[in-house]
Amino acid sequence: MKITSAAFSISVAAASIAAFAPACSSNSAPAKTLTKAELQDPQTCAQCHSQHVDEWRNSMHAYASDDPVFIAMNRRAQRDTGGSIGNFCAQCHAPMAVRTGATTDGTNLSDLPAPMHGVTCYFCHSATSIQGSHDNAIALTEDGTLRADIADPVDNAAHASSYSALHDGSKVDGASLCGACHDVTTPANVAIERTYAEWQGAIYAQNQPQTLLTCQECHMPSSQTPASDQPNMPVRSVHSHAVPAVDISLTPNPQSNAQKVLVQQNLDPALVAKLCVTAPGNGPTVTATLDDAFVGHDFPSGATHDRRAWLELIAYEGTNVVFSSGVVADGQDILTISDPNLWIFRQRLLDANGNEVKFMWQAATTDGTFLTPSVTNDPKDPRYYHALSHSYDVPPSADRITMRLRMIPVGYDVLDDLIASGDLDPSVRAAMPVYTLAGTTLEWTQAKGFGCVPQ
Ligand code: HEC
Ligand code: HEC
Ligand code: HEC
Ligand code: HEC
Ligand code: HEC
Repeated sequence: MKITSAAFSISVAAASIAAFAPACSSNSAPAKTLTKAELQDPQTCAQCHSQHVDEWRNSMHAYASDDPVFIAMNRRAQRDTGGSIGNFCAQCHAPMAVRTGATTDGTNLSDLPAPMHGVTCYFCHSATSIQGSHDNAIALTEDGTLRADIADPVDNAAHASSYSALHDGSKVDGASLCGACHDVTTPANVAIERTYAEWQGAIYAQNQPQTLLTCQECHMPSSQTPASDQPNMPVRSVHSHAVPAVDISLTPNPQSNAQKVLVQQNLDPALVAKLCVTAPGNGPTVTATLDDAFVGHDFPSGATHDRRAWLELIAYEGTNVVFSSGVVADGQDILTISDPNLWIFRQRLLDANGNEVKFMWQAATTDGTFLTPSVTNDPKDPRYYHALSHSYDVPPSADRITMRLRMIPVGYDVLDDLIASGDLDPSVRAAMPVYTLAGTTLEWTQAKGFGCVPQ
């Protein structure tokens, strides 16, 4: 039988309407106007959810497969592994491209239309269940119903809506949606990014009202405003979709400064610091202490194999520097300075022989130093005190000592390796920010006397 193209397109349209009818609603429910392609396009949502779209557009979720470092690393991974890495990176950085079959090997991401880039509205809001703890084990519905935390969504002509505990940041299950991607195990079975597992071990994951703090509660703060721009909508707890943390857009973008400001606001108070100076002759003279007090997981977390966070400590006698550690010039790689006292937080990737490697697909094991979050509120529990300290032998003549924690999202060593292999545009190096966490910037002077700052 010969099927005409007209008949074919009608039957496809009928099938897609049937597929999108909400599974449990009565037959009288009005058909929704958005097609599957429109549902998958974040641009469609801007008509009614303009604030969500504006925030998301500047987020790392939107940027996840446009990030030049991601593009360079994925290209390098494809070449280094002879293509066997396939969709591994794309499954989290461009999940809709993988789920729709728009990419089958992760090499054509840049050629795909915008709705296939990054972690999109449709991807998160079609999630129905989590099938494992890592590597984006998220099952999506095909029914076209968009799910989130509104228990009694106002019916709208564009799409069906439904409440989902998986999205609800006030429920412990909400964290599993984020955790499914924020937990990376490589094809060689090396667990390298463990944000979700770290959170699960922290006090914040204990499912009691006085302790529970999900990913959403810290990363998607809410304000009281309508959730849709349509007229006469009720006021809801509407959640920010900007999710600032560490990374920013590295390519020219009119909004990247706004995202950078949000990142700095997030980082500044994250750690609690102390600088203690003891009288000469009582062992090490200077001790810096850092406490992961307000982060829901390790610090740093996530892409810790790329992050480098280090303490800069400088001791002066008058205007002369008599001791320093962790001091770099602008643009200088912290790993190239010769500094036996350096206190650095990062994950090292190691091959089977224990040699350091730069990229996740080369790793057999890992090690590293991180600040860990609170696991208990009980002061009698030995795990209650979870801060880390580092001591420096500073000449007793020092009369002023400063410290600050600095952090670069992707170390210059990683960028330089990708530039040298021709995978990364050299201009990205200068766009990479180096942060200073204001809450760790402390100064001790002789006038304050021996003891700790703050006291
Ligand atoms: C024609 C307007 C319109 C368009 C277009 C639209 N929505 Fe909605 N959406 C609404 C309205 C109205 C609500 C209900 C708001 C309320 O109850 O406060 C809603 C609710 C939602 C909810 C909450 C569901 C729940 O129960 O928690 C999500 C998620 C959502 N929309 C996502 C999207 C996405 C993603 C797009 C783009 C593909 C989109 N919407 C396009 C009007 C629209
Ligand atoms: C489909 C996988 C996926 C899901 C689900 C997901 N994320 Fe992400 N997330 C990513 C990727 C990939 C990036 C990194 C993008 C980049 O930096 O290039 C990211 C980045 C982030 C960042 C910014 C990190 C930084 O260093 O700047 C935060 C914060 C974040 N996600 C929080 C969340 C929260 C909260 C949830 C749950 C509501 C969530 N994510 C769900 C994949 C996901
Ligand atoms: C990384 C996953 C993720 C992405 C991407 C995402 N959302 Fe959400 N969205 C959520 C979660 C989680 C909530 C509920 C937050 C809570 O309850 O704490 C939510 C809530 C909502 C709501 C309900 C009102 C509110 O703010 O709570 C709407 C509407 C919505 N999102 C629209 C969108 C639109 C439009 C986009 C794309 C521009 C988008 N979302 C992208 C995870 C995501
Ligand atoms: C108690 C608040 C809190 C909770 C809960 C929380 N975070 Fe964070 N998160 C932070 C702060 C503050 C930062 C910035 C400091 C840092 O980079 O670690 C951060 C940073 C991050 C980063 C960037 C880490 C890095 O160093 O590159 C990611 C990714 C992230 N969070 C994801 C998550 C996910 C996923 C969850 C839930 C499993 C979660 N967070 C739970 C507060 C929180
Ligand atoms: C299981 C999901 C997942 C997989 C698989 C994955 N990533 Fe990511 N990636 C993330 C998340 C989540 C973040 C954000 C973590 C953070 O901000 O600390 C991220 C961040 C990044 C970043 C930005 C931060 C940085 O380090 O520069 C790059 C680049 C990156 N990934 C590259 C890759 C490459 C290349 C691959 C494949 C070899 C890959 N990722 C595989 C989830 C994933």
